[in-house]
Amino acid sequence: MSQEVITEAARRRTFAIISHPDAGKTTLTEKFLLYAGAITSGGAVKAHQGRRAATSDWMDMEQKRGISITSTALNFPYRDHELNLLDTPGHRDFSEDTYRVLSAVDAVVMVLDSAKGIEPQTLKLFEVCRARNLPVITFLNKLDRPGLDPLELLDQIETKIGLRPTPATWPVGSFGDLRGVIDRRTDVFTRFTRTARGSQIAPEEDVSAERAAEEEGNEWIKAAEEADLLSAMGADVDIESFLAGESTPVFAGSALTNFGVRHLLDAIVDLAPAPTPRLDINDQPRPLNEACSAFVFKVQANMDRNHRDRIAFARICSGKFDRGMIMACQRTGKPFATKYASTVFGAERTTIDEAFPGDVVGLVNATGLNIGDTLFDETGTSVEFPPIPQFAPEVFATARPVDTGKSKQFRKGLDQLNEEGVVQVLKDPDWGDASPVLAAVGQLQFDVFASRLEFEFNAPIEILSAPFQAIRLTDKESAEQLREKLGVRILSRLDGRLVALFENKYALQRIEQNEPELKLDHIIAG
Ligand code: G4P
Repeated sequence: MSQEVITEAARRRTFAIISHPDAGKTTLTEKFLLYAGAITSGGAVKAHQGRRAATSDWMDMEQKRGISITSTALNFPYRDHELNLLDTPGHRDFSEDTYRVLSAVDAVVMVLDSAKGIEPQTLKLFEVCRARNLPVITFLNKLDRPGLDPLELLDQIETKIGLRPTPATWPVGSFGDLRGVIDRRTDVFTRFTRTARGSQIAPEEDVSAERAAEEEGNEWIKAAEEADLLSAMGADVDIESFLAGESTPVFAGSALTNFGVRHLLDAIVDLAPAPTPRLDINDQPRPLNEACSAFVFKVQANMDRNHRDRIAFARICSGKFDRGMIMACQRTGKPFATKYASTVFGAERTTIDEAFPGDVVGLVNATGLNIGDTLFDETGTSVEFPPIPQFAPEVFATARPVDTGKSKQFRKGLDQLNEEGVVQVLKDPDWGDASPVLAAVGQLQFDVFASRLEFEFNAPIEILSAPFQAIRLTDKESAEQLREKLGVRILSRLDGRLVALFENKYALQRIEQNEPELKLDHIIAG
């Protein structure tokens, strides 16, 4: 059994695509499925007239706003490997949801719109990958139409994110007339042919340098010169620094016309790492072939209106998962029966009978499981993985039900969405549920929160901004003293930790300077 686990883990690639909205993440996801043979024709993900019929569009709010807020995990085989593509929410605001997904992947594909380069709003997301040393593969998308010079894009990657770009493929063809790519690792020039609306795999032809010079003329000469320049600069793909999160192999192409998509998909198999032993809370690696263990990186309730249930998404870290096995939740010590395990593809569920390290299982009816929880096979050695780091909230609000008769539903929704991590609900340790403060990294989290309370819990709410400017972690003793100060509120988080909220940043600074004995810790993610 243990050899089976090692072999199966080595076949897994678990990754996410991150990009600025509209850079082409949805299109690329679909083209991956096309090239892997999971769908037979492109164009299925989006319906006509630009309206999305994407598989994850099951929430009213998503449909209204045309954004994908919820994350699902796609699993598809490619070249005798199992690829797990975890969907990251595609909205402008940085959100904690995305961050949690990144804690469950082994690599990331960063998609850039070549006409726009690195856009400020998504910079934070890229910086998080950089800070966590996640291996990043870059795709320069939309090269089929006018955009920035690819060399300029490389420069942006280096200067704005601090990742050293190492082009694996380089485009041949001028703006609006992409003809193919040179694989700098093999010097092979692959020429593509467009298919109608890019709905089918683009036929490829490997062309020798001599023929390319003859047939592609100046386009070829320019691309070959640039490729030489890159070699002279030493910008070659380097696995070691890629795996360390310091350099990024860059691929060129167009998700719309499918040019370069195969090269990119191959890179996920050939370059991206297979799952490795995950470090536990004591920094000890949990061997892949130990008894089954997993951690919950996402909890989602009410995914299916007809079922009204709660799904915990767990990434397998070690061992073989067999549906029906009993797992223990490390935090509560309670057993959890995994009878209903599924993969979730939009609104559709498929039962999953077994899974290996790198795979994601959706555990249905997961009452009692929270984000960050560790699960392990009851019959094996126990383990605790470190909690998923939380970001310091930057925006604060209060909420109250519009209809006071709905306060029961309101409280239920509050607790549920707090557990899901949609927002953080900070409660007064003395007042309990009365006048909680909502905290989030981005404003959009409040919108999602309000929408879900209204539609899923039938408790429309009014959100009012709360006048806080800073938050710190504190302890019981310091809290006693802080509570006496003007403009400070002491509240407690879901995990029971006390936090101090400050109405004024300068007041906080003054307290930190004058009373250094008080415990006031930054909330740091990383
Ligand atoms: P997202 O998930 O990152 O938000 O981006 P999405 O794939 O939805 O793509 C956003 C728009 O960019 C879509 O156009 C899509 O067709 C287009 N696009 C994606 N990749 C390429 C590419 O390689 N080249 C070109 N030229 N366009 C690309 P749309 O007009 O919003 O939608 P649609 O009506 O064309 O489907």
